[in-house]
Amino acid sequence: MTPLTHCSALILAAGKGTRIKSPLPKVMQPLLEEPMLYYVIQALKNAGISDIAAVIGHGGDVVQEWLAKNESDVVPVWQKEQLGTGHAVMCARDWLKERKKVLVVNGDMPMLTESEIKALLDHAGDAGIAFMTCDLDDAGSYGRVIRSNASVSIVEAKDATAEQLAIHEINVGIYLFDVDVLFRGLAELRQDNSQNEYYIVDLISWGCSQGITVKPVKLSADNLDGVNSPMELERLSIKMRDRILTRWLNAGVKCFDRNSVWISPRTTFHGEAWLYPNVQFWGSCDIGEGCVINSGSVLRDTVLKDGVQCLGYVVTDHVTAEKDVKMGPFCFLRDGTYLSEGSFAGKFVEIKNSKIGQRTKVPHLSYIGDAEIGEDTNIGAATVTCNYDGVHKNRTHIGARCFVGSDTMFVAPVTVGSDSTVAAGSVITKNVPEGALAVARGRQVVKDGWSLRRKSQK
Ligand code: UD1
Ligand code: CA
Repeated sequence: MTPLTHCSALILAAGKGTRIKSPLPKVMQPLLEEPMLYYVIQALKNAGISDIAAVIGHGGDVVQEWLAKNESDVVPVWQKEQLGTGHAVMCARDWLKERKKVLVVNGDMPMLTESEIKALLDHAGDAGIAFMTCDLDDAGSYGRVIRSNASVSIVEAKDATAEQLAIHEINVGIYLFDVDVLFRGLAELRQDNSQNEYYIVDLISWGCSQGITVKPVKLSADNLDGVNSPMELERLSIKMRDRILTRWLNAGVKCFDRNSVWISPRTTFHGEAWLYPNVQFWGSCDIGEGCVINSGSVLRDTVLKDGVQCLGYVVTDHVTAEKDVKMGPFCFLRDGTYLSEGSFAGKFVEIKNSKIGQRTKVPHLSYIGDAEIGEDTNIGAATVTCNYDGVHKNRTHIGARCFVGSDTMFVAPVTVGSDSTVAAGSVITKNVPEGALAVARGRQVVKDGWSLRRKSQK
């Protein structure tokens, strides 16, 4: 077995992926919102390989930017012109020359896991070249593995005879090389094929012709799907969803309908949670024990501590909710909203960039933006923080144990002291001292008999 710490990995990620029909490069096509490349990198890292480079080219700026932001330890290597998978490896010569063993991996295999990588390394022994194969009923456009006596080769579907096309064993697109063997082989690659490309797969027959030990390692096809078309991308999205959900169900998460629950790969659960049909977790969510997420809820980059309840149709984006918070039904919480323990954001409530104090309630029809509200305060229905004056965003501060009557406008910047009361229908433009009552509305005028007199005139 090759000690993993001595193995580096080169991901081939420069191809256009014409068949995927997208301006985005193929490896950036998302599965559950993460690019395919993300999954390949995770599989390598989970297998213990941390020395990784990626060959980028088509749409390379996008890939490079994504790597810098998300996987900054992966070294980008440019292939300016895409002359084939063999050429992609040639472009990494400078990076390779300081390495001994390299795993070359097609970047379009998002289902790959550490177990296939470890199996290849285990079975390779000290072969100069090893590569992964599997059997497929429908081998489609994959390269076919031709085994004859002591030698083995790969023939691309486009270059294959009818007899070769009938072979079920295919080239997966993952290879392990001794780097010195690889350098010798790269020097011999030619473009004499139907696509006029340098094929990495030609190194297999070349190795055999040189008396180098070449080992095909056949594995189960389960996690070895490549993605070449929108149909395959959709199929793998569902396969990935099922894989992630299965992992969390095994960890104690409960759901009623696995076909409508979507959990992103960067979401974590800490114990049991109850997921109703039609709920989604995107980006990096962190869900505490005993949370209940009712139907229609879509959570993104959200932290829920233990016992939080999303009562249905809760949409969150960059939100933290402490223990026993309740949300919804029908609320939209975003942009750094922080809900302290036991607080409540209820029906038709939008909260943005605000801190809601412990046990404070915002039960109905309110907009709270750029605000800080203390503990045990009650915000009446239809309260609005008027945070935007057309030029600047201004903050509203409301203290602890306040009672805010319904239909109140807080024209920010404004501060309301603790233990104060604001009368319903007020437009609060001036600060309210602690313990005070603020009434800021037109006085009611009553004219006796006025209505009856008007009716009699008709
Ligand atoms: C390749 C293999 C085929 C194998 C299949 C498995 C070759 C010649 N063929 O075919 O035997 O069955 O993968 O999926 O290798 N890339 C570059 N630079 C290039 C061309 C491609 O970086 O110039 C990258 C692509 O981004 C992709 C990977 O290499 O991630 C494979 O390229 P792709 O065009 O998908 O190869 P296949 O035709 O699928
Ligand atoms: Ca492919």
